[in-house]
Amino acid sequence: MKRHHICLLPGDGIGPEVVGQARRVLDALQLPLEYSQGEIGYGAYQKLGTPLPEETLAAVSRADAVLFGAVTTPPNIPGYFSAIIRLRQTFALYANVRPCRSIPHPSSRPQINLVIVRENTEDLYSGIERVEEGGNRAISEMIITRQASEKILQKAFSLARDLHFHKVTVVHKANVLRATCGLFLAVAQEVAAQYHDLEMQDMLVDTCAMELIRDPGQFQVIVTTNLFGDILSDEASMLVGGLGVACSGNIGERTAIFEPVHGSAPKIAGQHKANPLATFLSTAMMLDFLGEPEPARRLERAVTETIRLGQVTEDLGGHLTTEEATSSVLEML
Ligand code: NAI
Ligand code: MG
Repeated sequence: MKRHHICLLPGDGIGPEVVGQARRVLDALQLPLEYSQGEIGYGAYQKLGTPLPEETLAAVSRADAVLFGAVTTPPNIPGYFSAIIRLRQTFALYANVRPCRSIPHPSSRPQINLVIVRENTEDLYSGIERVEEGGNRAISEMIITRQASEKILQKAFSLARDLHFHKVTVVHKANVLRATCGLFLAVAQEVAAQYHDLEMQDMLVDTCAMELIRDPGQFQVIVTTNLFGDILSDEASMLVGGLGVACSGNIGERTAIFEPVHGSAPKIAGQHKANPLATFLSTAMMLDFLGEPEPARRLERAVTETIRLGQVTEDLGGHLTTEEATSSVLEML
């Protein structure tokens, strides 16, 4: 059996708590894994003078996949940068994949099983900005390229096929942003022509925001540009239980970084209150990426079962600690 090398990047706040519990779960799955660990975030900055040390970059380069917790990004330190955003750029992690599936809990709406595939490298987040006219006119450039669009659309259509879905919804605003979204939509039509087994539907982003609330069950894969994907994926996560269970993957050609959607939650750090389930579901995504679908499904089922039994942390209305919620998942496994 192939050994997989996993790099753990716990980070700050509740990051080390939830990644530590994910390690317990991975150990219980008894897979052929080896680990490395890297320092990242504000703690690394205080200790080593940078939020993203060279050794951490080297460890990520060597790994088959990365499990990341969360980092604290203080807003007022000059020259400081978000370590996770820098990692996504450094390793060209062009696809941000966020599954949204119903959980057996009152905070979740039923019969939702969709995945949002968000372009992660360009669009209004290109970083090309300027301020003119003495500060009275500000410009951020929206950049869409054929190359990046092709990559993300190929990813979305092939993922839809892998998941046995039959429909891909391409979300855009080509009626107004005719150049940029127009290019994205044109490339989508070309890519869709290569997938005869899949239906492509296109939808304006404002309509999509509304339809996600009105009838989320209609969606399977949603693929869109960076900014729209950022907003729609936060919206969609709230339909199915919210931050405590929202998982994600940042996928590139060579490697991928899996992470809970939440941040470092400094207010509850150290209090054993953090919900570890988002990290466990991200771990299941990582196992899929590593070609281990069987343990990935086992882990997902164990998480669903603990939720069904109410063996959960406070954020989901339970009374368990982070460690106890993990033990409950381990029992289900
Ligand atoms: P946050 O996600 O850390 O917290 C938002 C709210 O959700 C808080 O009330 C928190 O207590 C709660 N929460 C989050 N995760 C939870 C969990 N697993 N279990 C139970 N409750 C949970 O976002 P916030 O407060 O806006 O940011 C805090 C710090 O995290 C900031 O420094 C921010 O820059 C950073 N951040 C980092 C991210 C990352 O590393 N990918 C993503 C988002 C924020
Ligand atoms: Mg966001």
